[in-house]
Amino acid sequence: MSALNVVILAAGKGTRMYSSVPKVLHKLAGKSMVQHVVDCAMALAPQQVCVVYGHGGEAVPNALVNYPAQFVIQEPQLGTGHAVQQAMPLLSDDSHTLVLYGDVPLTQLSTLQAMFGLGDGLVLLTVNLTHPTGYGRIVRNANNEVQCIVEEKDATPAQRAICEVNTGILLAPTALLRSWLNNLRCENAQGEYYLTDIVAMAVAQNVPVRTCQPAHEWEIHGVNNKSQLAVLERIWQQNYAQALLAKGTTLADPARIDVRGTLTCGKDVFIDVGCIFSGDVVLGDNVQIGAYSIINQASIAANTQVAPYSHIDQSIVGENCRIGPYARLRPGTELHADAHVGNFVELKNTELGQGSKANHLSYLGDSTIGQRVNIGAGTITCNYDGANKFRTVIEDDAFIGSDTQLVAPVTVGKGATIGAGSTITRNTPEAQLTLSRSKQISIPTWQRPVKIKK
Ligand code: UD1
Ligand code: CA
Repeated sequence: MSALNVVILAAGKGTRMYSSVPKVLHKLAGKSMVQHVVDCAMALAPQQVCVVYGHGGEAVPNALVNYPAQFVIQEPQLGTGHAVQQAMPLLSDDSHTLVLYGDVPLTQLSTLQAMFGLGDGLVLLTVNLTHPTGYGRIVRNANNEVQCIVEEKDATPAQRAICEVNTGILLAPTALLRSWLNNLRCENAQGEYYLTDIVAMAVAQNVPVRTCQPAHEWEIHGVNNKSQLAVLERIWQQNYAQALLAKGTTLADPARIDVRGTLTCGKDVFIDVGCIFSGDVVLGDNVQIGAYSIINQASIAANTQVAPYSHIDQSIVGENCRIGPYARLRPGTELHADAHVGNFVELKNTELGQGSKANHLSYLGDSTIGQRVNIGAGTITCNYDGANKFRTVIEDDAFIGSDTQLVAPVTVGKGATIGAGSTITRNTPEAQLTLSRSKQISIPTWQRPVKIKK
């Protein structure tokens, strides 16, 4: 087949979303609906992708700046035929044009590829529905050849009984499409220029009209409200969970995982219930993710265990680490192999060396921590003076006593020990004990105040 253009209709306002965000920008699995459609279109290696937008100012083009797509505005919106017409000046005649919808996010590549297999004429994607209400009906003759599409509002009772409906998705030779669109009229129940009227025109010109059906009904479902969006979100998540299971990942409950991006798992990965993955997450062999953990844009190497309720954001975790429960790795954290980060420990922009441990209640920010370091409970790096941030360096084999404050910039030397409760403001020498602590005293004559009975 000749070169391919894709026209994506995305001008609808989405009144029933009750939102100030244009409908097609609402997110499904962490990505706007129209992005799902554009990504699918891009996989067809088209010559041109053209998005027809309307409501929400430049919000739709702005949301797609990273795509090699073109944008045309449709204002006012006079129907689906009128919408496609807006894109025609951008399309060359020696091509085919595929029409997709920005609010129909789950159409599969394989379905569109099947349409291309049906030859050079007009190809319609149709589906048989038990309850066809609201859709345009596919009218066929006695030889089962498509004659036209009739919209619900224009249909006779007999036509309304037809269960084969128009999904809206179609493929047409561009030159013919252009001529058909130029002949559209709006004398119908809705006073709109119907894209569907091109079918009767093709039939009149003996251009073959063929139909194709998707493998799954959800591929053609459009979103008009939050309820329909939620249904498609669950379908997407189920599909993703099934794909993970099919590749050998163990999911405690495939209905209780949410992936809003990509999740790549090695062998024998276990994921407990309620976890959310976003961005691109990579889990190595034997990684275990505890319940209700939230992981964004991170890689976790083999044999690492993440206990429940941990947050890992834009971080790199080495092999055989222990994280959580209730750990928080903020952006720029890197854990080397065998590191331990326990409950209520927060790391930010910090490197924790091989075999080092911060097991309880600490804040380690803007720090470089060597190997085999022990960070006692309650240790805090004071990295911020209200205006500037400073680094803390803790060299290999250091031992930081509990409840220590390290006032950055500061370096704790190799093998140094810091006494518990110290406030460290200057660099500490290697291999020595450093502590800053007021002397403990006892007052033998002191008496505890007593309440006077009234
Ligand atoms: C359309 C089809 C109908 C099909 C149904 C599938 C026509 C005339 N009818 O009906 O046969 O069964 O889709 O859902 O094509 N849009 C624009 N600009 C416009 C009008 C629509 O961009 O001027 C976009 C909408 O945002 C939406 C899509 O086109 O994404 C379909 O429009 P809608 O008004 O929902 O079409 P239906 O009347 O449902
Ligand atoms: Ca309509």
